[in-house]
Amino acid sequence: MKRTIRRLAADTASRIAAGEVIDRPLSALKEILENAFDAGARSIEIRVERALDHAFQVADDGTGIPAAEIELALERHATSKLTTLDDLDRLESLGFRGEALPSIAAVSRLKLVSAVNDAEVAALVRAEGGIVVERGEIARAPGTTVEVRDVFFNVPARRKFLSGPAGELRAATRMIESCALAFPAVAIRLTVDGRERFHWPAARDLRERCEQLWSPRHAAQRLLATGERDGVHVTAMLGLPEHARATREGQVFLVNRRWVQSPLIAQALRQAYGNLLPPGRFPAAVVWLTVPPARLDVNVHPTKREVRFADDDTVFGLIAGACAKPLASLHPPFTVVRGGAPEPAWADRVRERPSSQTWLGLETQAGAGAPGAAAIPESADATAGSRSAAGSGSASGPAVSVAARAPAEAESELWQLHRTYILAPVRGGLVIIDQHAAHERILYEEALARLQGERGAAQQLLFPVLVDLSRDHFDLLLELGPQLQQLGWDLSPLGPPTVVIQGVPSGLRTERPAQLLQDMLDGYGEDSASTADQQIVERIARSFACHAATRAGDALTREEMRTLVDRLFATSHPHGDPHGRVTFVRLDLDEFHRRFGRL
Ligand SMILES: Nc1ncnc2c1ncn2[C@@H]1O[C@H](COP(=O)(O)OP(=O)(O)OP(=O)(O)O)[C@@H](O)[C@H]1O
Ligand SMILES: [Mg+2]
Repeated sequence: MKRTIRRLAADTASRIAAGEVIDRPLSALKEILENAFDAGARSIEIRVERALDHAFQVADDGTGIPAAEIELALERHATSKLTTLDDLDRLESLGFRGEALPSIAAVSRLKLVSAVNDAEVAALVRAEGGIVVERGEIARAPGTTVEVRDVFFNVPARRKFLSGPAGELRAATRMIESCALAFPAVAIRLTVDGRERFHWPAARDLRERCEQLWSPRHAAQRLLATGERDGVHVTAMLGLPEHARATREGQVFLVNRRWVQSPLIAQALRQAYGNLLPPGRFPAAVVWLTVPPARLDVNVHPTKREVRFADDDTVFGLIAGACAKPLASLHPPFTVVRGGAPEPAWADRVRERPSSQTWLGLETQAGAGAPGAAAIPESADATAGSRSAAGSGSASGPAVSVAARAPAEAESELWQLHRTYILAPVRGGLVIIDQHAAHERILYEEALARLQGERGAAQQLLFPVLVDLSRDHFDLLLELGPQLQQLGWDLSPLGPPTVVIQGVPSGLRTERPAQLLQDMLDGYGEDSASTADQQIVERIARSFACHAATRAGDALTREEMRTLVDRLFATSHPHGDPHGRVTFVRLDLDEFHRRFGRL
């Protein structure tokens, strides 16, 4: 039974988490969608014209707003969902503040058309910058349509901080997907400039909704977890370890159907995966949690995306325990071994020699602290001050003898230290190279050259790899298609969300092409630079380099090390990686001599 919209009493209104509700166009869409779900819509249609900040419209077939209340809906702290704060203990709706529509109206040109079930016509109201400029009647079936144009037209300062329209739309797609997972029985359709992006009919259950979103094949690969403790229920669809991503974007947390961010849920989930995942990878998973409203505080943050649980331990234990169960079946065959290939025997020999170990360890300390190439001498001095006595006697032998050789002769004398640094003797000293940063620099320049000139060669895969992307990644892939091809990727989109990888840029390790592609798309999305053409090329190159590069922890053969060192010094800026970190640190032989009392 729909309640009427009323203004909240002043003391109630003042105790509701208020503030900046609409920080970006996406937030406006999220609020309007939530209103449609709250109105019991069975079907929601979202239409975007050009970009979210240009115009979008959401039409639902929910309960509608009576003509007599329609203007009240645009007033601050007027809501039909709550009367007193105690109602929060029984809250079933997503909205409760009466703030969303007025906040959107204040920064846009908004049109609201709504009809309740037995009304003969729909009521219409239009507002610009929060001021009502038109009232009227219009024909419409029961339900509500909200149209939002020119978001931030009257707040130009805020427009400047908008990310690119394509990025905003991708993020919005992710948000719509998350809401769709919360309300599987609601049909949802999105069109952009008249073209349908997706249409998910009402689904029978969560699994069917997942199939609509991800493809039946991917949905079938997910593991189902369920559990209950003290009235709190959890259901989760867990991605396999190979679905894990470099960011949290593969994670959707829904608490009482509310799309939230929750470090607590994220940690519980991570704990469940244990050592199935290496550090820095985030499991892909959807977690649905149902908590008695009285034991959940939703009035925490103005965007309503944070919640507090009355009992964190119960929630943590429930999620970690329930999710660990189905994952347990993966442990024997899937245990991740870090580093891949076995370490070459000679590298082990170097590590075993205590004198070398001390010597190498000492100099690595200096390198790690150096913020830039120019700072190397100071870092070396600082180390000399703090560690001057460490193992000096036995260390001097191998160090000096190696470094004293001529460069050509010493060429093959490369060591890998802790699978992270390469030590290379050079004339008059020693260079310590960060293997990941160095490889990033090399790949970045190669990628830039490919993107700006000759198309890169593809290394064809013996067995093409089928990969199911998330929808936003799929859209991004279509957007970046020409550039990815230019880089050397050979990709054929089969249809959302599946892509076939037929070839990868030549010269790469290709054990996990799907993961590399996903990570690269993640990295591109995170790098929120401007959308100018040149910057797009640089972002792609940066993301590609970062994810394709050898990592710390990868064992390198002597040959690989030599190629890496040669190629690094053939780049235009060997000193730094594309993010501005140093790639190598040089230590002078004189410095060693001084420290060992030879000078
Ligand atoms: N699509 C809709 N269908 C039916 N009623 C709606 C719809 N959108 C808004 N309303 C009515 O307008 C009122 C104001 O909406 P608004 O989103 O501003 O506040 P809210 O949903 O109550 O709280 P919140 O600010 O937390 O979203 C709602 O309480 C509801 O009664
Ligand atoms: Mg609302």
